[in-house]
Amino acid sequence: MKKIVSLFLCLVMALACVSALADGQKVGVSMPTKDLQRWNQDGENMQKLLEEAGYEVDLQFASNDVQQQLNQVTNMINNGVNVVVIAAIEGSSLGSALDLAKEKGIPVIAYDRLLMESDAVSYYATFDNYKVGTVQGTYVKDALKLDEAEGPFNLEITAGDPGDNNANYFYSGAMDVLKPYIESGKLVVKSGQIEFSDVATPTWKTDVAQTRADGILASFYADGSNIDAWLCSNDSTALGVENALEANYDGDWPIITGQDCDISNVKNMIAGKQSMSVFKDTRTLAAQVVKMVGQILAGETVDVNDTETYNNGKITVPSYLCEPVFADVNNYAELLLESGYYTEDQLK
Ligand code: BGC
Repeated sequence: MKKIVSLFLCLVMALACVSALADGQKVGVSMPTKDLQRWNQDGENMQKLLEEAGYEVDLQFASNDVQQQLNQVTNMINNGVNVVVIAAIEGSSLGSALDLAKEKGIPVIAYDRLLMESDAVSYYATFDNYKVGTVQGTYVKDALKLDEAEGPFNLEITAGDPGDNNANYFYSGAMDVLKPYIESGKLVVKSGQIEFSDVATPTWKTDVAQTRADGILASFYADGSNIDAWLCSNDSTALGVENALEANYDGDWPIITGQDCDISNVKNMIAGKQSMSVFKDTRTLAAQVVKMVGQILAGETVDVNDTETYNNGKITVPSYLCEPVFADVNNYAELLLESGYYTEDQLK
């Protein structure tokens, strides 16, 4: 009997402890859009883990509309969230909401994308964005054997959204590997579109990338020349390029890079239409951010592993960088199926 009573007391104390930690504490989570697969996953993971930890969660998606995200975040703050976690549509457009958070003493975590031009950003959690780019650039370099082969090879480039700070890191990481070969003439960009501003894809949308790729194919490859590689910063843009190639290109299928391991792109990897992707396990990022939330609210030291790289124009934001992982047709089963990220049915 004594044992049962003390077991019961332990249980009551443990429960009291958990609810004391998160009791009544509310976390606002603002995601950019439901249009792209990854943000749905990020939002779901965050909600699940935060609720399991005992927090109330206000999760909102903003339809890639900057004003909508600004209103949503402002409302979260006015409704008394204790911490706000934001994956911004446009890094520098949430200034007034961030000022409000600062005024009310509400910590702000930038999720995956850095919040720019504000000193109200407490922490940043992301994947190593520059490394994502170097993994993509190195893949193209190795696949074309740029150091040994004679070439020249034709390359085209599709990058991300200029309003997303990450897009520059992906582009720079890849171009730091490939630019020397463009300069030496071993890589030829027939379209002449090389600078970030020329190759960017506003809102990262598949159809925007597809329209630009259609234009390039019509203007520079209708003469039958081959494209050897198409550097794409992520999967949504790679999909646009793949659609354009399928519709309007008869040459040898190029090497195509991507990022995220979106379901359509993994299917395309299996079908030989995309060469690689970069797996950024959104479960890992969400778990890290939930840990950050707990540490902030408990007044503990917050885990960071980079205090130098991410300057947002006002401050250098203490960051936690998760590791991106190379993925292709040879390791996708282990990375994505065995780890339970996707089911086999999802990839059929
Ligand atoms: C993310 C990428 C994603 C892109 C488009 C970036 O900020 O880091 O993983 O592909 O946004 O959603």
